[in-house]
Amino acid sequence: MLAKRGKWIILVMMIGVLGLGCAEWEQFSQRVENPNPNDKLSIDRGRALFAAKGCESCHGKVGKGDGPQATTTKLPPTNFTDRGWMITRSDPDLYWAIVRGREKAGMRPFGNELSANETWDLVSFVRSLY
Ligand code: HEC
Repeated sequence: MLAKRGKWIILVMMIGVLGLGCAEWEQFSQRVENPNPNDKLSIDRGRALFAAKGCESCHGKVGKGDGPQATTTKLPPTNFTDRGWMITRSDPDLYWAIVRGREKAGMRPFGNELSANETWDLVSFVRSLY
């Protein structure tokens, strides 16, 4: 009886490990790079989008996380001027946060509203703030 259950446990664990492997592969295969890091034109386009898309309503006009809606989210919006925090974030971290949103924290996904280039322009802009 116990041995039989043991086999099942091992099988379930193997499926779990396979599943984890797939998730990791998905992350890996979606690794992406900013085509225009530190590019002034990209930063300017990002600044315009930051206002047009309403990012500043939460993150604040200069990205300090103090926009008028900042008090309504579950977690405080990221302060992009906080250098100590921002240097821990990779470009893909920022890119996918914009595409997928941070729904538990209170930011919706923007993937359907922005092209990949526009998303990178936003990454360039928030990176220019610290
Ligand atoms: C309704 C408020 C709100 C709006 C609008 C909003 N955000 Fe956010 N944003 C948040 C919150 C809350 C977080 C999560 C903070 C956390 O996880 O601690 C966040 C996180 C992020 C992060 C991840 C930062 C990190 O530390 O990894 C990025 C990048 C970001 N936002 C960019 C944007 C951009 C660009 C826009 C506009 C297209 C935008 N946000 C619009 C509230 C907002």
